[in-house]
Amino acid sequence: MLLGIMTNADLPVKKIPLRIKSAQNRILIRGGRVVNDDRMQDADVYIEDGVIAQIGSDLHVPGGCRVIEAKGRLVIPGGIDTHTHMQLPFMGTSAIDDFYTGTRAALAGGTTMIMDFVLPSRNESLVEAYHKWRAWADPKVCCDYSFHVGVTWWGPKVTQEMEELCQVHGINSFKMFMAYKDVWQLNDTELLHAFDACKRLGALALVHAENGDVIKENSTKLLAQGITGPEGHEMSRPEEVEAEATNRACVLSNQVGCPLYVVHVMSKSAADVLSEKRRAGYVVFGETIAASLGASGSHYRHTCWRHAAAFVMGPPLRSDPTTPGHLMDLLANGDLQTTGTDNCTFSGSQKALGKDDFTKIPYGVNGVEDRMSIVWEKGVAQGKMDPCRFVAVTSTSAAKIFNIYPKKGRIAVGSDADVVVWNPHATRVISAKTHHQAVDFNIFEGMEVHGVAEWVVCGGRVVVEDGEVRVVQGSGRYIPTPVYSPTVYARTPARDAAKAWKKVEREPYTGPVYVANDAS
Ligand code: URP
Ligand code: ZN
Ligand code: ZN
Ligand code: ZN
Repeated sequence: MLLGIMTNADLPVKKIPLRIKSAQNRILIRGGRVVNDDRMQDADVYIEDGVIAQIGSDLHVPGGCRVIEAKGRLVIPGGIDTHTHMQLPFMGTSAIDDFYTGTRAALAGGTTMIMDFVLPSRNESLVEAYHKWRAWADPKVCCDYSFHVGVTWWGPKVTQEMEELCQVHGINSFKMFMAYKDVWQLNDTELLHAFDACKRLGALALVHAENGDVIKENSTKLLAQGITGPEGHEMSRPEEVEAEATNRACVLSNQVGCPLYVVHVMSKSAADVLSEKRRAGYVVFGETIAASLGASGSHYRHTCWRHAAAFVMGPPLRSDPTTPGHLMDLLANGDLQTTGTDNCTFSGSQKALGKDDFTKIPYGVNGVEDRMSIVWEKGVAQGKMDPCRFVAVTSTSAAKIFNIYPKKGRIAVGSDADVVVWNPHATRVISAKTHHQAVDFNIFEGMEVHGVAEWVVCGGRVVVEDGEVRVVQGSGRYIPTPVYSPTVYARTPARDAAKAWKKVEREPYTGPVYVANDAS
């Protein structure tokens, strides 16, 4: 199958989104301010058959097209959430937001593409797991999506399968875990081999950076001391446990010349490691998430167990109250590049699997619906970033890093018509009572945010209409991500050449040689 034309037809059961040639397929977004990551311009945007066909003023468009008035609004590329786990089977249950409710909620908040994770069990075929996830996602997705694949165990078969995934199935990123000991965790040698394989394939190595050995030891001690509640989760994995692994991941990947992307950067010290490594020339990228920008670790000490458990995720939210602001500063200045959510939701009764033991509370929080508003509120509304940088960190940088730019991440002629009419002045109050997610709790409950996705167009279809969500299950598409993203790999050949090991030419040693004892 050719990557460029891979569709949901990769599966035996095929569901083709209906694309009717009618006024519904022709949309004019009129009078708004178009914002890309590098410029803003007042212009109309005309969409036809799923792509952006014209941008400018006084456009000549066919009669009968649908008109969306965008005066006083920003017209931005649809958000790309780089990190979700819809319906993930995990810790004895499955995430409650599936590919339908999760992508519907994404669209409601202005995200038109998610990047989810295929996470095989130990010894499970990576390719079979990929097909399993496709079969879960394709009939349900309402927005476009792609996959990262977890390298959750190591062996010769894994390398072959990574190659097949890259060459046949449109995968260009693999996630390695430095935590989840005895489940998904790789040791340093395995990490080196996995990074080597990514490098050879032109794929991007993603890491979950926490020291799983330390977490396991600390958890055992905490439980033995009777600390069984959600606060134990945070205590078992303090900041330095994340920072140490982040540093180690940078060093190991750099040793084999493999570009690295650290997912869910949650702490100041881990983020600072990335800043420092980028200044030293390492090819490293960092993603932070809506939760770490909009919530804090103080919730783990909430006296209501259900409330505290709702925030359990790995790595944990941090209690240092300056963390969200610092992460936002780094996003604004370019040291961090992308925002995801790690959306992996569990209801109260699912979280209660760990009511007597914090290590059994299923990890994960919401975010897919609220990410864009959280970034706007904490970034743009606070004067830390301008609308262009907002577009970069919510969409464009992800499209560039994962090699789907400018099809995604840009308002340009020929790009996919994933477009959001964003009202920067409107506000809304986030609540589980009104959100579109299936989960019964929202970690941002009660927060008033500026920035509302009033109209959302995904693949040329209007899916949010003046705030009303109207979606069709299965209408989203699988978006293959080709290897050798220029944003990731363009500098590596010269960097490898400059850093290549060079043998020192010298005369052979001819002096006496000590006779060694028997090796013992
Ligand atoms: O808490 C989290 N992060 N749950 C999902 C699994 C992962 O590590 O991303
Ligand atoms: Zn296949
Ligand atoms: Zn993770
Ligand atoms: Zn995750």
